[in-house]
Amino acid sequence: MDAERPDEPNGWSEETSHDFINYGRYIVPERDTQMQIICSLLSDLDSPGIILDLCCGEGLLEEILMDKFPTISIQGLDGSDEMLQKASQRLSRFGERFRGGKFELSSPAWRKPGHPFNAVVSSLAIHHLLGPQKQALFMDVKQMLKPNGIFIIADVIEPGPMGKELAAVTLDEIVRKRSFELDGNSSAFDFFKREGWNIFRYLDPEDIDKPSPLFDQLKWLEQAGFVEIDVHWILAGHAIFSARKAK
Ligand SMILES: C[S@@+](CC[C@H](N)C(=O)[O-])C[C@H]1O[C@@H](n2cnc3c(N)ncnc32)[C@H](O)[C@@H]1O
Repeated sequence: MDAERPDEPNGWSEETSHDFINYGRYIVPERDTQMQIICSLLSDLDSPGIILDLCCGEGLLEEILMDKFPTISIQGLDGSDEMLQKASQRLSRFGERFRGGKFELSSPAWRKPGHPFNAVVSSLAIHHLLGPQKQALFMDVKQMLKPNGIFIIADVIEPGPMGKELAAVTLDEIVRKRSFELDGNSSAFDFFKREGWNIFRYLDPEDIDKPSPLFDQLKWLEQAGFVEIDVHWILAGHAIFSARKAK
């Protein structure tokens, strides 16, 4: 799965990776809760299982999953060298259980891995794809799963007209609170505001973020042939949802 990635085709740069590594703990709503929910959704995984993480970032989820489930191994793909380097440092104690690789999420090149996965997970990444690209991904992920395999998505979604302002206000408040909780001051929140990072206020169609409505994504999962499609958590325009490949 050493798929080629043309240089930053979708605008995610190493500078963005760097900013996310520094600010993720302020700007991702209830990040620990999100990771715990993903863990609990994986608790009936066949053992020993192999999980594919699409856009694994610096390997935070991998660390929690491999500590909790000692027999699983994870293949983590990402397009950023800095993220993959951080992930391999963080996860070195797990040895062969973690394998990192560089890829371009939108490319078909990595989608025929040659062996099926028990689960495919992805956190905060699929929203970089356009709607039709998400649809194609969902169909390809289904092919990559074993029967009864689970696909778990934690991601930014596009709220409807009624929910947009609510998501924007709630996200501001979460980042403001987190800034005080972690540092006792508003500097991280000030940075978030200054950079225009509240996607629900400043979404630019030319931007790297292309969130889709949750309802559309649930329908696309159904159209791809998944069953047991469900939503587990939603807050400030972020959601965790999953779908299963039939037995
Ligand atoms: C917001 S971070 C999330 C990282 C991690 N999953 C987490 O939840 O902490 C988005 C990740 O997606 C990767 N990424 C964004 N667009 C990508 C693309 N088109 N192809 C491959 N990786 C991409 C970035 O390098 C980054 O690691």
